Amino acid sequence: MKTIIEPFRIKVTEPLKVISRQERERALDKAHHNVFLLDAEDCCIDLLTDSGTGAMSTEQWAALMLGDESYAGSKSWKKFEHTVQEITGFKHIFPTHQGRAAEGILAQTRLQPGHVVPNNSHFDTTRANIEFVGAHAEDLLCPQGLDTQLDAPFKGNMDLDKLSQCLQTHGPENIPFCMLTVTNNTGGGQPVSMQNIRDVKALLSDYDIPLILDACRFAENAYFIHEGEKEFQEKSLLEIAQQMFSYADGATMSCKKDGLANIGGFLACNDDHWAQDFQNALILREGFPTYGGLAGRDLEVIAVGLGEALAYDYQVYRHATVEYLSKRLLAKGIPLVRPAGGHAVFLDAKGFLPHLPPSRYPGIGLVNVLYLEGGVRAVELGSVMFARRNEAGEETPAPLELVRLAFPRRVYTQSHFDYLIEVIGQVWEKRDEVSGYRITQQPKLLRHFTCHFEAIDAA
Ligand SMILES: Cc1ncc(COP(=O)(O)O)c(C=O)c1O
Repeated sequence: MKTIIEPFRIKVTEPLKVISRQERERALDKAHHNVFLLDAEDCCIDLLTDSGTGAMSTEQWAALMLGDESYAGSKSWKKFEHTVQEITGFKHIFPTHQGRAAEGILAQTRLQPGHVVPNNSHFDTTRANIEFVGAHAEDLLCPQGLDTQLDAPFKGNMDLDKLSQCLQTHGPENIPFCMLTVTNNTGGGQPVSMQNIRDVKALLSDYDIPLILDACRFAENAYFIHEGEKEFQEKSLLEIAQQMFSYADGATMSCKKDGLANIGGFLACNDDHWAQDFQNALILREGFPTYGGLAGRDLEVIAVGLGEALAYDYQVYRHATVEYLSKRLLAKGIPLVRPAGGHAVFLDAKGFLPHLPPSRYPGIGLVNVLYLEGGVRAVELGSVMFARRNEAGEETPAPLELVRLAFPRRVYTQSHFDYLIEVIGQVWEKRDEVSGYRITQQPKLLRHFTCHFEAIDAA
């Protein structure tokens, strides 16, 4: 059959309300034009994030009831540790309440002011955790990854020349570790090839610098490797994931993505000395090492979810969904990041709204008009999230102005996507009327979550 169907059927439903345009206008005003500040029930199709928003399977709901809530050495911890070790091969596993807690522990224990951390592209919380301890986060994405229109595989790869340059400029003594984000969320959800992971590892080995995977979407990345690198066509996604992790010395993970869970994460490593520091920080900030930041039932859910994320038919369906939306938007001439990423479709806000310069935040203009038009909630990945600011508050715009439509896992059906295509199509028709924005109030760190905006004319 040509039709790829959802590899599940629906057992529990959740009502979805569509409020009127006037109500949406009032809601957005009240939220200071920042969709993060909207009430979720005022959103019709909520594509703000794929993080923690997925639907659990019957196996996961059943596992929830098996949660062993013992403080130390619970059965649930054993299951969690066994599963994570089977997939990653790491010696030491530390459960955390979510990915950023793992990043925080890594940054606080390993970094000092003046240190540099290379990555293909740092996610916002990763960058913030690194900068919070006075270190510098450097993005070394391959040039193909910056060309939103180039339809090439593995655009999440790290640029090896830039990495080599970075190692020589800063010196290995100032680079306690290097990261690779699989898939590369910030750069359009693009995958990293096994060859690139190998090459990065080989280069780092010459300088004795550990490699840490930001593994949030490791299963989606494994699927891309299966489809795109001939050598892996006959391998299972589990075998591919195991090989990806085999080149790394540790990992940070948000189980809210490819753990198919609503909360959770982990930090992992092989080094005993690192593990001792991680354990001390974990006990201080998260909890006893056998539960970390999680309840026993969460550990159970994640143990099941990690396995389900590596099921081939699940990944085929997930990628088909992303393709479904992406193909239909491209057919309307709507500028997108190409090829489609693993967990989202990324609209190119610069191409969509060429009348708005980065200083007017075209991504926010697009996000807000999508909400007003059809109650669709998306997120800006552009200059609000990633611009660099100097002491005087002057901004260097982000290299890309994207709007991410992230797909919660196993949540929306084809008709939800058809509705979404209609909403985006209508916005495309009247794109010249979309206004830009300015920031009226912002916090020091991670401003996109809580800052306030005001609409301004395009000129
Ligand atoms: C690539 C990447 N790294 C880290 C994180 C942080 O994970 P969490 O939201 O669980 O703290 C995210 C979350 O979206 C992510 O996409």
